[in-house]
Amino acid sequence: MFKIGNIEIKNRVCVAPMAGITDLPYRIILKEMGTSLLTTELVSAKGIYYNNPNNKIIMATDKKESPVALQLFGADPIIMSLVANNVKDSYDIIDINMGCPVLKVVRNGEGAALLKNESLACRIVESIVRVIGDEKPVTCKIRIGYDNNHINAVKFSKALESAGAKAITIHGRTKTELYSGECHRDVIKDVKSSVKIPIIANGNIWNIYDAKSMLEETGADAIALGRAVKGNPWIVKECIEYIENDKIIDRPTKDEIKKMMYRHVDDEINFKGEMKAISELRHHLAWYTHGMENSTKFRLELNSADTKEKIYSLIDKL
Ligand SMILES: Cc1cc2nc3c(=O)[nH]c(=O)nc-3n(C[C@H](O)[C@H](O)[C@H](O)COP(=O)(O)O)c2cc1C
Repeated sequence: MFKIGNIEIKNRVCVAPMAGITDLPYRIILKEMGTSLLTTELVSAKGIYYNNPNNKIIMATDKKESPVALQLFGADPIIMSLVANNVKDSYDIIDINMGCPVLKVVRNGEGAALLKNESLACRIVESIVRVIGDEKPVTCKIRIGYDNNHINAVKFSKALESAGAKAITIHGRTKTELYSGECHRDVIKDVKSSVKIPIIANGNIWNIYDAKSMLEETGADAIALGRAVKGNPWIVKECIEYIENDKIIDRPTKDEIKKMMYRHVDDEINFKGEMKAISELRHHLAWYTHGMENSTKFRLELNSADTKEKIYSLIDKL
């Protein structure tokens, strides 16, 4: 157990935010698997400020998933602090995205562009902390630097800590590395030994062994699982058991996976409505069947399944 500000984080297995994946229904599934900290998909502070109606779904939360962080992206300290103050009551933590590499985000000086603009990154944290006080901790999610010539995570993290950040999640890659190649655990380790606030290590954790070795090699307070949770929420429970008790628990059976698929379909449809849910569910359902017999046929047929009944009957046949 550790604390982020005044929030108790009950174990060392968090889940990283992933746009298009970790929406509310899936976060609740991940919570039931035992994760100690969840974060919403990234949402534009400006979009909230100007009442973009699409944000309603991204910002949806439920007491069941607490503690949960709202992840904001933006580059305007005033807008970000106003927005954080307006919405803070619904969340436990306000997290600032400083790692998103998407062109339209970076071009606006937001997301990973902040890695190159330490003073603005700090002003964002300071102004949010000034407005919301100690009531809700402000955290940041960063990468190790912008590119190989600018690996500045240690200096950057110290500055964020001084600005008032209460924890940092660090993805061990640069912005230009995107999501491939090695995760630079050595830099995460250097960051951990340079600051006093909790550090959550992220990047390339695919199984229980990666999870434990990430903690051992970096000294981080926790890990954040990323793409490994796609179609595999059970990995959360497996990592917790392995880290805390050295125990390797059984993988889910095919029936358990199918049960989870039906449940995920129901929850997404109840949350987003059939049409929107089904187009997004296709990815999730394909991931669940990874490595299963007949999964190629299932995925092909899934493309034309446009009602809950058709999807259910495809799952039945698996
Ligand atoms: C599809 C996708 C969407 C993502 N969306 C977000 C996001 O909204 N906010 C964020 O901070 N990081 C986002 N990330 C980055 C992940 O949180 C994580 O840092 C990254 O995937 C590295 O971890 P991994 O190697 O374990 O997947 C996203 C990554 C992926 C693959």
